[in-house]
Amino acid sequence: MSENRRLFVCTNQKSGVGEDVAKALKKELKHQGLKKLVVDGHKLRTQVQTCDCLDLCKGCKKGPGAALIVYPEGTVYGNVRPADAAELVAEHLGRGKVVKRLRREE
Ligand code: FES
Repeated sequence: MSENRRLFVCTNQKSGVGEDVAKALKKELKHQGLKKLVVDGHKLRTQVQTCDCLDLCKGCKKGPGAALIVYPEGTVYGNVRPADAAELVAEHLGRGKVVKRLRREE
């Protein structure tokens, strides 16, 4: 059985920071070896995708970063900047821990 995890990053900001956040997340996934994993015999693949407004704009407009959502768990992060990518990948995707300082309620 194979399972996919997806991160959707809003790119609807005027600054275009969402594109940079998505690039940084992809780079970190590769760098930290978390793009493709085998967990308990199951293949787990993580993909980062950009998208238009996620309708989570509170997460975008309160600061200079982007909103993103992680599926399948549905965790929402807001005001994510490229510099947050390493921590988000290591903690959420690597250790399964929510990064509380970036967490937003839907
Ligand atoms: S502008 Fe980013 S979620 Fe709406």
